[in-house]
Amino acid sequence: MDKFQAEVRSNFRTEMFAFGLYTVLGNQYKNFKPNFGEHLKEAGKQEHMHGRIFRQFYKKQYNIELKEEKLCIAFGKLVGYALTPIPLSKKLKMISDNEASVAVKIEKQIADGVHKDYLKVLERILPDEIAHSKIYSEAFGDN
Ligand SMILES: [Fe+2]
Ligand SMILES: [Fe+2]
Repeated sequence: MDKFQAEVRSNFRTEMFAFGLYTVLGNQYKNFKPNFGEHLKEAGKQEHMHGRIFRQFYKKQYNIELKEEKLCIAFGKLVGYALTPIPLSKKLKMISDNEASVAVKIEKQIADGVHKDYLKVLERILPDEIAHSKIYSEAFGDN
């Protein structure tokens, strides 16, 4: 497996993981602010969709079906529960920072140039990841 293939697989796993994590947080903190739970769960659904996009791309590119969807989602949920003692603000800061670095990485890949089919994938998910990077400030910012 070359570096690119490994990256696509890892992206698929991370997206599925994030779906599980956002889903648990959305349920745990649904009353933190009006619509807050729904907002997190909506972000989770976007991650799920991203995961499916990476899986589809992987299948087309390598003719291999990635099968770890359920496992990665379960792991994301497990981590969500394990993080229960951590204050929400810390968790969201961590998540937002991570989303921001994902967005920067994607922007760099797009600028550097990638295969046109992969470019479509990256351009599709970038606006969502940028939106996710604002989750912390939406919840705890001064706005
Ligand atoms: Fe994503
Ligand atoms: Fe995201």
